[in-house]
Amino acid sequence: MHSKYSDIRRNYERQEMKGEDLELSPILQFQNWLEDAIAAEDTEPTAMSLATVDTTGQPTQRVVLLKNVSEAGISFFTNYHSSKGVQLDHNPKVSANFFWPLLERQVRWEGRVTKLSQEASDNYFASRPRESRIGAWASPQSTTISGDNFLSERFREFELQFKDKEVPRPSHWGGYLIVPHKVEFWQGRPNRMHQRFVYTLQPDGEWALSQLAP
Ligand SMILES: Cc1cc2nc3c(=O)[nH]c(=O)nc-3n(C[C@H](O)[C@H](O)[C@H](O)COP(=O)(O)O)c2cc1C
Repeated sequence: MHSKYSDIRRNYERQEMKGEDLELSPILQFQNWLEDAIAAEDTEPTAMSLATVDTTGQPTQRVVLLKNVSEAGISFFTNYHSSKGVQLDHNPKVSANFFWPLLERQVRWEGRVTKLSQEASDNYFASRPRESRIGAWASPQSTTISGDNFLSERFREFELQFKDKEVPRPSHWGGYLIVPHKVEFWQGRPNRMHQRFVYTLQPDGEWALSQLAP
């Protein structure tokens, strides 16, 4: 089959990974690559596609923004009552994918989420612009709405409610920590001879590193 899209392809040749240079921990390795993506001014370097599954086993994914990296994992924030929040209540297993096209790199995460502490969510919420904080109250994320007017009216209502006051964090809004058990680093290489290095968590808590065929 030939279509107008079928000839779109690029040869990846910008960088090469060296197995011996990789960090012992995928978190540190990820941090190095994230810093590279930020320095290279890749678009939305913190954006990840986050996959969850519903109760029928149907996977679904959406983009969310990474907001922190720690030794324990990576975190993002959302509405706990959203579709993803409801799915994560039933099944905390997730997969997350970062793609940095300028650097020809991809990082795939597999793990489980836990909710961040209320204090951590409060701290991040308080750092957001006031309009975003009001937006968290105004938007019943993932529910069907009648149109844009519904949102602008809700936004106005909460603006009035919190006039001259601090906007507190809604209890249904907060963070998740993705605790990984597998993280794969992919570097595009010429002639489709790409490099893939995967870290897998061992029962003793150490990370095993192996290279996979592209
Ligand atoms: C670049 C980008 C960044 C986004 N960041 C977030 C985020 O950090 N948190 C969030 O809840 N939704 C974020 N969204 C919206 C989600 O992709 C999604 O539409 C929303 O969370 C509802 O998903 P759900 O119905 O599966 O729960 C972002 C979307 C884009 C395109």
